[in-house]
Amino acid sequence: QLLDGAPKPLAGKKVIVTSGPTHEPIDPVRYIANRSSGRQGHAIAAALAKLGADVTLVSGPVTIPDPMAVETVHVERAEEMLEAVISRLPVDIAVMVAAVADWRVASSAGQKIKKQPGEAPPPLLLTENPDILKTVGHHEKRPKLVIGFAAETQDVEKNGRAKLERKGADLIVANDVSPETGIMGGTRNRVKIISAKGVDEWPELDKDEVAERLAALISSKLG
Ligand code: CTP
Ligand code: CA
Repeated sequence: QLLDGAPKPLAGKKVIVTSGPTHEPIDPVRYIANRSSGRQGHAIAAALAKLGADVTLVSGPVTIPDPMAVETVHVERAEEMLEAVISRLPVDIAVMVAAVADWRVASSAGQKIKKQPGEAPPPLLLTENPDILKTVGHHEKRPKLVIGFAAETQDVEKNGRAKLERKGADLIVANDVSPETGIMGGTRNRVKIISAKGVDEWPELDKDEVAERLAALISSKLG
């Protein structure tokens, strides 16, 4: 199909992309979250669709619009995101960009937690969330190409390599999310592409440009 004249090397390929943060409820009005905007994941979903892929985007709560030509599924919690992803396997390619909350409140309250005069603040007991990338990377319906991100504030390459191994991914896109980089929540990104073969350092680019480069790389591996 050459509807807009552009080549569609990923035509017929099914892709799942996760994006954004997750919100883990403390009670009906409060949650645990992080600074992810969803910009990078949404841009990747759009870039893959532009190359002709059949893209499903599973997005946590974000304020940016759904990308064009992409089926977008909205979820709140990590457990919902996992279910949304696993129920859509098999696919050809999975790109897990979401900044999934690592922990959730062990038992969130059914009613708003009230201050108790004279009592200490309530403690939050946390439990670990499922690892969506790791589950997909080791799944019996594992996609041919599994790509993850690594958000680090130190030892970016070393930590990225460890994640490549641990999560059963083919590629890890590692970035430094220290506050001074402005990457988390910002519009620019500077990444290292880590595979079993080695590391490729990309220059600082707009998140849209990182997305286009990554889509081209995916297409070269699978197109
Ligand atoms: N990820 C996931 N599910 C989780 C945690 C992370 O799918 N519960 C995915 C992210 O989408 C990303 C990759 O795993 O593609 C790495 O996420 P990151 O937060 O950098 O790594 P963690 O394994 O959570 O380790 P840590 O936060 O302790 O560095
Ligand atoms: Ca994490």
